[in-house]
Amino acid sequence: MSLQQIYDVEARIISVSNVRGKVYKMAIDAPEIAGTAKPMQFVNVALGDSTDPLLRRPFSLSGIYPDRGIIEITWAVVGRGTEIMAGWQAGQSVKVLGPLGNGLDIANLCLDHGLILVAGGTGLAPLFPPASQALARKAEVNVFYGARSADDLLDTGDLVTGCRLHLATEDGSTGFEGLVTDLLEAHLGVQGTGDNGKPTVISCGPKPMLKQVKHICNRHGFPLLVSLEERMACGYGVCQGCAVPSAGRKSGYYRVCTDGPVFWADDIDLGECTR
Ligand SMILES: Cc1cc2nc3c(=O)[nH]c(=O)nc-3n(C[C@H](O)[C@H](O)[C@H](O)COP(=O)(O)OP(=O)(O)OC[C@H]3O[C@@H](n4cnc5c(N)ncnc54)[C@H](O)[C@@H]3O)c2cc1C
Ligand code: FES
Repeated sequence: MSLQQIYDVEARIISVSNVRGKVYKMAIDAPEIAGTAKPMQFVNVALGDSTDPLLRRPFSLSGIYPDRGIIEITWAVVGRGTEIMAGWQAGQSVKVLGPLGNGLDIANLCLDHGLILVAGGTGLAPLFPPASQALARKAEVNVFYGARSADDLLDTGDLVTGCRLHLATEDGSTGFEGLVTDLLEAHLGVQGTGDNGKPTVISCGPKPMLKQVKHICNRHGFPLLVSLEERMACGYGVCQGCAVPSAGRKSGYYRVCTDGPVFWADDIDLGECTR
């Protein structure tokens, strides 16, 4: 495995926009990162020059545009750091460390029977780049996307035209009323999976959702990749703060920031993860 260079750059913010409710999107001029990042990698964003809040915050790349040297992140305000970021303006500079994590080599995935993406809340953010790369490979891409309510949904307009979108909200304000995993089960029940081959599934979102997706995929025999969003400190393998227990053949722990965030679901013990 070749080591990938990590860049620590002072980058210019190109735009910050409020997608809806507490969800924001930011485009950053960072050619070094945009030129080398893979789908589902992430960056660590510094919140300012002061030591409070001290730690950088990790965000998946929701857009990677090597030709223009631009990366995009999309986030929900959940605490102090993300609130500070929501107040940032175009033209400001921001310290960004990346690309971090293993990311996904879409060329290594079998897409002969299509790709199913299952996301909850901001878990859709890292799935935009793989969706567009899979469509470029002429794969059928079904996206199952859920959130508590319409206000918590990311901008699904960012999904490349050609993806089949299946929306669910817990309060029924948009799409199917209920959990996205119920919608996925209903869809698979109607479509059947008997002679259609096994699509590859990639999922990102809250841990209970990932567990349920794993359960569904195990039942149907679908290969499943999950992207984990553990709390992190360093983001590059030094502090051990992001360890998750392994499952299957390997014993011990994985570091989500370097071994992940993308894992085959069978390699991870989702039952014992902290989130
Ligand atoms: C690899 C990775 C990729 C991520 N990608 C995205 C993304 O694309 N968009 C996005 O909105 N968020 C993403 N996150 C989560 C994001 O990093 C946190 O929401 C953010 O750090 C919270 O910072 P804060 O200062 O606002 O909240 P804090 O004040 O630190 O915490 C506020 C609340 O959020 C919870 N929280 C904080 N960090 C996390 C976390 N990592 N996971 C779960 N709960 C957390 C805390 O327990 C607390 O309840 C990602 C996390 C990781 C590890
Ligand atoms: S966050 Fe430090 S080792 Fe993963």
